[in-house]
Amino acid sequence: MSKTAIVFGITGQDGSYLTELLLEKDYHVVGITRRVSTGNTGRISHLMDSPQLTLVEGDLTDYSSILRTIEEYRPEEVYNLAAMSHVGTSFDQPLLSFDVTGKGCLNILEVIRDHSPFTRFYQASSSEMFGDSIRGDGYQGEDTLFNPQSPYAIAKVAAHQASKLYRQSYGIHASCGILFNHESERRGGRFVTKKITKYIARLNKHLVLGRPIEEAPILTLGNLDAKRDWGHAEDYVKAMWLIVQQDEPDDYVVATGEAHSVRDFLETAFSKIGVENYMDFVTQDPKYMRPSEVPYLRGDYSKALARLSWKPEVSFDKLVDRMVKYDIMELGELKCQDSI
Ligand code: NAP
Ligand code: GDD
Repeated sequence: MSKTAIVFGITGQDGSYLTELLLEKDYHVVGITRRVSTGNTGRISHLMDSPQLTLVEGDLTDYSSILRTIEEYRPEEVYNLAAMSHVGTSFDQPLLSFDVTGKGCLNILEVIRDHSPFTRFYQASSSEMFGDSIRGDGYQGEDTLFNPQSPYAIAKVAAHQASKLYRQSYGIHASCGILFNHESERRGGRFVTKKITKYIARLNKHLVLGRPIEEAPILTLGNLDAKRDWGHAEDYVKAMWLIVQQDEPDDYVVATGEAHSVRDFLETAFSKIGVENYMDFVTQDPKYMRPSEVPYLRGDYSKALARLSWKPEVSFDKLVDRMVKYDIMELGELKCQDSI
């Protein structure tokens, strides 16, 4: 008998990769989609014909639709990947961010507690929860203190602690993956990596067409000095599944163990189209700076390695390469330059 998993956030970057993985493992996947006026299923359009996939309209802020869906499908596993996931936006929409990203998790936990206590639960926790907290050796691990620096991170801490509480108080199999930044060809366009690689594709087209360098488009960013631990989403959804399969629920850091600055990302991405002097094409605007910044994230994934035998497969350079290549191809018409 195949298992049933409900995926909140199925239309997002991680939701699409996780659904591919679960379908490969013969799950029946029930994906919760929001009703929106334009399509939001682009990332899972290639999976829509699968008889093992069911889409149900719902919203994380709507307890009743969560209750009905869990009661109807009696899932063995629930993955909560839904969130207002853009940290910058959470400063402008803090209440919505808390309702969705914080309280939304509680809505699911309450339904599981009262109506489906055998269901295993995965919460998408975030390295943003650490804020500016760093261990003496320069890493963040499962025991590093949380010191959230944004409304988004505060909401994620609330959801994380609630998951832990329901595990400890009610015996629910609730686990959290504390995932560090992970990107991919499917990353949303307003995150810094995708913003850069989409720009690189435009610049590449400009240069390949032989247009004047003075007329090249400019890339406007915020803080270039922040460091992030960037991995590939395809690797990270494997960790999510492994976490849920463990006999005992627990929390795990999922990361690469390497920190790179936004400048490093820029330098690597520009090098893929043979441009060295990247600052000639980049400007900074305070509107992309945050009222409070997380300066440095670097995860210690040794627990995931030891207990789940999980480790990242895609290197930083390969990640940038894949994203740049994809965006160049997406833009169409032109082949990548030989250097890619
Ligand atoms: P994403 O691409 O922004 O996807 C977010 C998903 O949440 C989308 O499917 C979105 O639906 C859905 N959603 C938003 N509000 C909702 C609501 N009110 N009700 C139901 N669904 C709602 O994010 P991601 O990168 O895949 O990340 C997945 C999860 O991991 C998020 O919780 C994120 O905070 C967390 N996380 C991400 C990273 C990372 O680096 N990617 C790292 C740590 C943790 P629409 O498509 O309709 O907008
Ligand atoms: N988005 C964005 N846009 N970020 C910029 C820009 C810009 O124009 N310029 C500089 N940055 C900097 C941000 O200030 C931040 O320090 C860094 O680039 C990364 O920003 P994002 O790509 O927006 O990601 P994030 O680290 O804030 O959040 C992501 O990772 C978290 C895990 O650590 C998101 O995926 C979160 O949902 C996730 O929890």
